[in-house]
Amino acid sequence: MKDILSAVEQRLDDQSARGLATAVSRAVRDGAVPDGAALPPIRTVAHELALSPTTVSSAWRILQRAGVIRTDGRRGSRIATPGQPHQDRYARVVEEQSGLPVDLSTGVPDPRLLPSLTASLDQLTTARVPRSYLDDPVLPGLREAVLADWPYAAQRLSVTDGALDALELVGRTALRYGDRVVVEDPCFPPLVDLLGSLGAEVVGVPMDDEGMLLTALERRLDDGARAVVHQPRAQNPTGICLSRKRARAMARLLEGRDVLVIEDDSMGAISSAPALSLGEWLPEQTVHIRSFAKSHGPDLRIAAMTGPAELMGECAARRQLAQGWTSRLLQRVLLDLLTRPEARASVAQAREVYALRRAALVDALAARGIPVPGTDGLNIWVEVADEAAALVRLAGQGVAAAPGSPFAVDAGAPPHIRVTAGRADGDTAALADQLAQAARARSRTARHR
Ligand SMILES: Cc1ncc(COP(=O)(O)O)c(C=O)c1O
Repeated sequence: MKDILSAVEQRLDDQSARGLATAVSRAVRDGAVPDGAALPPIRTVAHELALSPTTVSSAWRILQRAGVIRTDGRRGSRIATPGQPHQDRYARVVEEQSGLPVDLSTGVPDPRLLPSLTASLDQLTTARVPRSYLDDPVLPGLREAVLADWPYAAQRLSVTDGALDALELVGRTALRYGDRVVVEDPCFPPLVDLLGSLGAEVVGVPMDDEGMLLTALERRLDDGARAVVHQPRAQNPTGICLSRKRARAMARLLEGRDVLVIEDDSMGAISSAPALSLGEWLPEQTVHIRSFAKSHGPDLRIAAMTGPAELMGECAARRQLAQGWTSRLLQRVLLDLLTRPEARASVAQAREVYALRRAALVDALAARGIPVPGTDGLNIWVEVADEAAALVRLAGQGVAAAPGSPFAVDAGAPPHIRVTAGRADGDTAALADQLAQAARARSRTARHR
């Protein structure tokens, strides 16, 4: 403690909060205070450096915002350890992709089912696109088109570079280090990585066919969660859609608590289920995000987000410091795709094809004694006897699927694999046979145990 305080004191040229924050930051950069070191209590620092406790706590807030220190409630503050980016789970999903002839591991849309961009790009002239730094960051026509098909009367709409960009922006703005965040279990792995990188403690709530289980959710909320992140329809990986009844019950549980609801509608317009949001009951507590990547093209990199005016304002201010806004040229392309009849027909057809492919595979699996949950989206979640054995078995037949373990939040659930049924355009019966065999496959060691 003494060493830390003397290292800071040597660098303290200015007695203000900013001066103290700068001194701590310099002491860390110079290596005089090691990463992870515990900082003395605010009163001790104030006493030893002859500052007021208010000045020290303001300095700690500045340092916390800048990511130099991490404050964890009663456990006090520490110098942050610059960790590796948290990519463990996402990396584990991606590494299985192996260039096999039938790749159902990716969770991404079929490129042949995306609307053609040709006409939308042809109509693009920069003359019709704002050209200044100072214009509205959201193209007004796009705001109208998106809100016309939004699940609740939202206060303020922002456009971001995809759903993950929106999730990162909201997470970074609304969450503090150590905040507990509830997610669905199983959950989209990059979301768990992202929340981990923001310093959140991620806890899971299992689901049934209507969404998160209410008793488990209530327990998590009573334990002091700060946010709930969920996918209201076509949940990745299960395909489960939140029922209206469950949504209303969730809203009742959440009402009056200081908990933010963050909704990730990543399948958007290729979902067969209608859009649904807890914003209908809790507009002041809900952020709703819809991606256009799966429906209109991953490389458009566009999502729309609504939320409470104050939080959206803070997000916009934060964004102003970096990318500023999402290219309005791309926004114009999306607007054209949302309004051009041929593009709308193409997205509607894609929605139907995905639904047919998924339903055909689900039915064929059920006929082989393999029930899978969920009703919507690109993916199915198949329980298997042994994850590794299932993947090896499938790979031997030229089929790639994703391992389930990176999607699992809490340990103890049975093994699964994720299969992107929306990309299954071949012989459904043959694929169902392969999946049914893979689901029952066991590794040698497991068999002999
Ligand atoms: C649940 C979920 N959230 C977010 C994303 C990422 O969306 P975007 O490409 O808009 O960042 C995906 C993409 O697979 C997803 O499945």
